[in-house]
Amino acid sequence: MRLQVVDHPLVAHKLTTLRDKRTDSPTFRRLADELVTLLAYEATRDVRTEQADIETPVAATTGVKLSHPRPLVVPILRAGLGMLDGMVRLLPTAEVGFLGMVRNEETLEASTYATRMPEDLSGRQVYVVDPMLATGGTLVAAIQELIKRGADDVTAVVLLAAPEGVEVMERELAGTPVTVVTAAVDERLNEHGYIVPGLGDAGDRMYGSA
Ligand code: URA
Repeated sequence: MRLQVVDHPLVAHKLTTLRDKRTDSPTFRRLADELVTLLAYEATRDVRTEQADIETPVAATTGVKLSHPRPLVVPILRAGLGMLDGMVRLLPTAEVGFLGMVRNEETLEASTYATRMPEDLSGRQVYVVDPMLATGGTLVAAIQELIKRGADDVTAVVLLAAPEGVEVMERELAGTPVTVVTAAVDERLNEHGYIVPGLGDAGDRMYGSA
């Protein structure tokens, strides 16, 4: 597994406002969307392309276009939905799949309640999006499902990560073609599985409800 922390003043600025508990839901959604677009720019640095011959108004030339099969963007429901627009803004031709996962707040174990994506992901680059890499349980389960379906290159885009979650990902996904792109790795997880200092419950802050 490869970890990429995006070091950019605009990323740091937007993340600071997201963390602030006084930031209301509409502002939180807008900033999360902007932050995802910046992270998506870094996350797609290795997106596959193929040669394309075109004519400009002046001359024939050769450029690149995204290859087939098209990339797949998979938000993890519920909070990952708030990151979908930011991803497809940069990858408008991507297909979109959905994974519904919920974390048991006592055991912190993740379970899947809905799956909607192609059965066969062979040869696909997949971008899985979820705001918080906390214990790592949800993302590990999601990525294992993608790899089981044949995905050969998975990038997880998260707003924030905890060192504990990064360690779990490194252990459970050792030797797999997985990259994690994040705006920051915070200090730690608290006893309730929240990232410290973090930004609270990302889903609640986005949607204003539990
Ligand atoms: N999920 C969240 O929304 N926030 C955390 O801090 C951890 C998990």
